[in-house]
Amino acid sequence: MGANARSAKRYVLGVLRRKLDDCKRINMVKDFFQMMKNVIILVGSPKVKGNTARVVEQVEEILSGKSIDTEVVFLDRLALNPCRGCASCEDTGDCIQKDDMEELWEKVESSDGLVLASPTYYSGVTAQMKMFIDRTGRAKVIWDYKNNLPAGSRFSEGKRAMIISVCGQPGEKWLEGPLMEMRSLLHDLEIPLFSIIKMHSADVGGGLFEGRPETEIDISEATEKFILSSEEILLYPRKSGV
Ligand SMILES: Cc1cc2nc3c(=O)[nH]c(=O)nc-3n(C[C@H](O)[C@H](O)[C@H](O)COP(=O)(O)O)c2cc1C
Repeated sequence: MGANARSAKRYVLGVLRRKLDDCKRINMVKDFFQMMKNVIILVGSPKVKGNTARVVEQVEEILSGKSIDTEVVFLDRLALNPCRGCASCEDTGDCIQKDDMEELWEKVESSDGLVLASPTYYSGVTAQMKMFIDRTGRAKVIWDYKNNLPAGSRFSEGKRAMIISVCGQPGEKWLEGPLMEMRSLLHDLEIPLFSIIKMHSADVGGGLFEGRPETEIDISEATEKFILSSEEILLYPRKSGV
């Protein structure tokens, strides 16, 4: 290797090392202020270019702009099965079904922010989101309950959550069912919910974004709330009823 190549290599390595140090420093500051480092967004819509996806895209942009690593997972892309109600998890603390759920739980565990996003399908969440809710709710909660462990202890402490709910018809009443379903999972897991994005009338007129500047404002305000996640805006405290 010539002298020029060696000095170029040294230069690149130096830049990379400094970037790494910056990242470490940023993470130390985030740890100190208990700020979020990484967020996983679980999307219940099967449509990667649908309304929920567009809202999620904007949320992801805002999070990334604050140097928060964000991963978006479309549940429809995974091989997931519905809860079979077999109650095996009551005895073993584990689900007997071996599919992509295990890897997904690992991803949730390694994230400090969890976003659940679903459109309304017949007054509830989509089947894809329901699979996540039922399987997670049973396998991660019932064992604790039966063994007198603190609820939600199967996931580590310190997580925080946001919900995104989108429906086609005008009026928030179509969001109530999905919101209740997603909230009840977070409640059982004792993951505090800090912010909710409610979007209705997605199938009316030009949709959520066209001619509706308030959509982007609502999304960005709600996401800022989630990022701040201060006790004052806690939508329900840990260890209380929904
Ligand atoms: C099977 C199905 C059921 C739906 N049920 C409702 C409903 O009960 N209330 C409502 O307001 N919209 C309902 N919608 C409309 C969707 O909520 C709406 O189109 C939403 O924007 C879809 O989100 P997406 O584009 O992210 O998939 C339904 C749509 C489908 C496909």
